[in-house]
Formats: sequence, structure tokens, C-alpha cells
Amino acid sequence: MNITIHTDPITSLEVDVLAWPITSEQEFSGELKDTFGALLNGLIESGETKGKPAELTVLHASADSSIRAHYLVGVGDALDANAIFKAAGQTVRAAVRRGCTSLAIHVPDAGLVRPAIEGAWYGSYQNNAYKDTDANQLEQLVICGTGDAAAGDITGQAVNLTRELVNTPANDLGPEEFANRAKAEGEAAGLEVEILGDDELQELGAGSHLSVAQGSARPARLVRLAYTPENDSTDHLCLVGKGITFDTGGLSLKPAKSMETMKYDMGGAGTMLGAITAIGRLKPTLRVSCVLAMAENMPGSRATRPGDIVRAMNGKTIEILNTDAEGRLVLADALTYAVRNVGATHLVDAATLTGAVSVALGNVNVALLANDDALANRVRAAGQSIGEGFWPLPMDAAYLAPMRGEQSDLRNISGNRNAGTITAAKFLEQFVDKTPWAHLDIAGTAWHEKALPHAPRGASGVAVRSLVRVAEDWS
Ligand code: BES
Ligand code: MN
Ligand code: ZN
Repeated sequence: MNITIHTDPITSLEVDVLAWPITSEQEFSGELKDTFGALLNGLIESGETKGKPAELTVLHASADSSIRAHYLVGVGDALDANAIFKAAGQTVRAAVRRGCTSLAIHVPDAGLVRPAIEGAWYGSYQNNAYKDTDANQLEQLVICGTGDAAAGDITGQAVNLTRELVNTPANDLGPEEFANRAKAEGEAAGLEVEILGDDELQELGAGSHLSVAQGSARPARLVRLAYTPENDSTDHLCLVGKGITFDTGGLSLKPAKSMETMKYDMGGAGTMLGAITAIGRLKPTLRVSCVLAMAENMPGSRATRPGDIVRAMNGKTIEILNTDAEGRLVLADALTYAVRNVGATHLVDAATLTGAVSVALGNVNVALLANDDALANRVRAAGQSIGEGFWPLPMDAAYLAPMRGEQSDLRNISGNRNAGTITAAKFLEQFVDKTPWAHLDIAGTAWHEKALPHAPRGASGVAVRSLVRVAEDWS
């Protein structure tokens, strides 16, 4: 998709569709009023166009016009970054479905150009890599307004990289395939990339991470990516991702229904890879690294048995009572590695860690658990600026107590169903060594169960855009 900025009058546009965001305010001015005046008033009076979110009114232009159709796209109360993101995504999907290949969007504010472009990329993503279709695609996007297209272009494509990886079935994307792809994508974004295999992980004493992979014929991988700014910063943020390319539950096997979508259990790694490829291209002043803990959780003949005790990279022993609580096991070593070997001063991890997060927050907010309010606030603020919700949960010491072991330092589960998301976060906290850290549980938000106006069913790419902004806004 080629993107241009158009500052001339709209009469000089040659596109299939020109889209106009319409608020429910219905105080129209400028080009919108000049172009549609009486027609728009009629649509509003008849109640056909209300400006509600996701409302789409298609107006066909006259045969001699260089614009084939105008879309009036409802955005609700106000046109903010979140509203234009969704409106742009919906517009692209609607236009592509109608066979259009070029689209212009009216963007009345320079600050909205970036989310408009991100939304257009979002809506252009089609999950059809495994279908023999020559589905129509958007070729040309025109932003009618003033502003810079570069940032939205970079971040929008990064989100789609995340979505593509998360949607790829596990037969084609195991730990090794993911690592190789991360290397290619990382290097293309100008990052330093290192892949660690079994031998290196053994050497490091990553007994927790390796215990997850050992039930699979496909070996574990740890991927490290690094972005170093021209003037190196004292702060060093490390993005850590859970990369379970498929989660059967291991010997604590999941029921069939719960397993159907478990290819998305590498969503945390996909998120962090997407974010750091954008960071490599946007070149913020903050140093940023990324550690991706890759494994496939299978119940093979060498699989970890419930009751096995392993030693993590930081020396702590863990009794694995449920092999389905595997995300915290791979993250434990990845977090230790990020602190000790990467030298991170700040940590953010993303993980499809618990089913319980959907019980607590549904598919609306990402759960945010942290040992440092300032870092948590950075994530929240970045999310708020674009409409991604990160909601804090408490981290009282008392939540750790049920995971203290008899025979080991820790157990990997609490033994009851209470506060599952917090329990998992308290476990992770044992491996960050007091480094400022924020944990994002994206199990409820990384996957759209149903198609939306601006997205097909499947991977959502949640948190990528927010994390890129955390790095850009750091200073
Ligand atoms: N990958 C799952 C969490 C998950 C569940 C993600 C549903 C997306 C949708 C994780 O590895 C897991 O199985 N967690 C267990 C933990 C339990 C055994 C303490 C869970 O949430 O049931
Ligand atoms: Mn699991
Ligand atoms: Zn899992």
C-alpha cells in the first residue's frame, strides 16, 4: 500500500473512494460542508446518518467525477486517535470489499494522520495466506490533510507483522521458524539479532525454559534483538515476550475446545517483535532490547511430569505441578536473562498468560501488573493516547504465599482458582530481581473471536502501537 499526503483541494483527487469521518456532533464546516451542504443536512434530518461509531453511508458521485464514491464514516462523540484508527480500518475493509484499489481519507488534524494510517494498515490486513484467492487489495492510500506519513506507515506494518505471525498455524511456525523469522525481520529493521539454542540455554542454566520445550520434538529458542540509539541512553528498556508456538497444556492436557486457538500463545513474542521492528525504524533516543522465549508445549515422551522440580536460571527451584502453567516458566528465565545478560534497567513483558484475565477484564482491557508505578503509568498513558486499555491489578505480597513450595522454592501454581492473573504475575516477579517491571497479560485481548468492522477474526496485534509509543515518549 502506497501512501501519499494530499494538501491540495479535494477536487484534484483521483480515487475510487473519499472517506469523511462524521461525528455525532453534526456541526459541519470546511470542505465537508462545501462539498455536501444540503445533501448532508437531508441525511441527518432523515436519521440516515447519525455519526455513530461504525456507521457507514455510501454516496455515489456523478459519472464525470474523478472520485467514484464518498463514504461518510461515523466516529461517535469526537474524532480522536482511537476513532480515526477504527474509522480508517473500517473504511479500507468496506472499500476493498467493493472492489476499490485507491482510497482517500479526510484527516482534519495533523495529529490524527498517524493513527489514520495505522488504521488503514489495520483494515488492509487480510488473513488469507492459506487461501487460493486473488482477493482485491488496496494499492493507494491518500491522506487529505497535513502531516507526516512515515511513523504511521512503520507502526501500521509492524502491527500487521505481529498479526501475521500470530495467525500462522503452529505446523508452520515452531520455535525455530519463529526465531529465524525474527532474525530476518529484525535485521531488516536494522537491529542486532542473536538466537540461542539448546546448548546455550543449557549453558545458561535455563532449566525452567527448557522444561517446557522438552516434551516436543521441536527444540527451544531464545531470541535477543537490540536497538541501540546513536547516543546511547542510560535507561535500557527490554521487551520480553512469551513465545509458546503451541500450547497443548503438556501432560496437564487442555480440553480440545480450549486448544483450538492455542497457536496464538506466542502472541507476547509476536507483539514484542512487532514493536521492536518499528522501534528499529523510528529510532527513538532510548536503548531498547527484546527477549523472546520460544518453546512448544507438547506432551511427548520426554515431557515434564507434574511434580518434577527444575532449577531456573536465577537458581530458584520450581515444582511444576501443572504443565499447563508453562508461560510463567519460560518467562522466568527470559526475565532473568534480560536483567543479568542483557543489562536491562526496565522490563516490560507481554504474554497470553492466563485464561483468568478474560474473566476479570473480558476482551476489552489488557491486564497491567507491575512493581513500579512510574513504568506502569508510561504504558497506561501511551495506551490512553490511542485507545488501547491497560488496567492495573494489585500485587500484594499475600498473593505469592500459595506458591511457596515445601520441597522447592516455588510451585508454578497456587492450587486454587482465585486471582489467576495476579498469581501468575507474582510468580514472574520472583525473576525480575527488583528491576522496574510491568507485565501485560494479553490472553483476553490478543485475539478477536469475531470479525469487527475494522478487522477480520484472529490476531489483534494489541499493545504493539502502545509499546512503540512508550519507547518514543520515554525521554
Ligand atoms: N496459554 C494459556 C493461557 C490462555 C488461556 C491464553 C486461554 C489464551 C486463552 C496458559 O498457558 C495457561 O494454560 N494458563 C492456565 C494456568 C493455570 C494452569 C494455572 C490457565 O489460565 O488456565
Ligand atoms: Mn498453558
Ligand atoms: Zn500458554
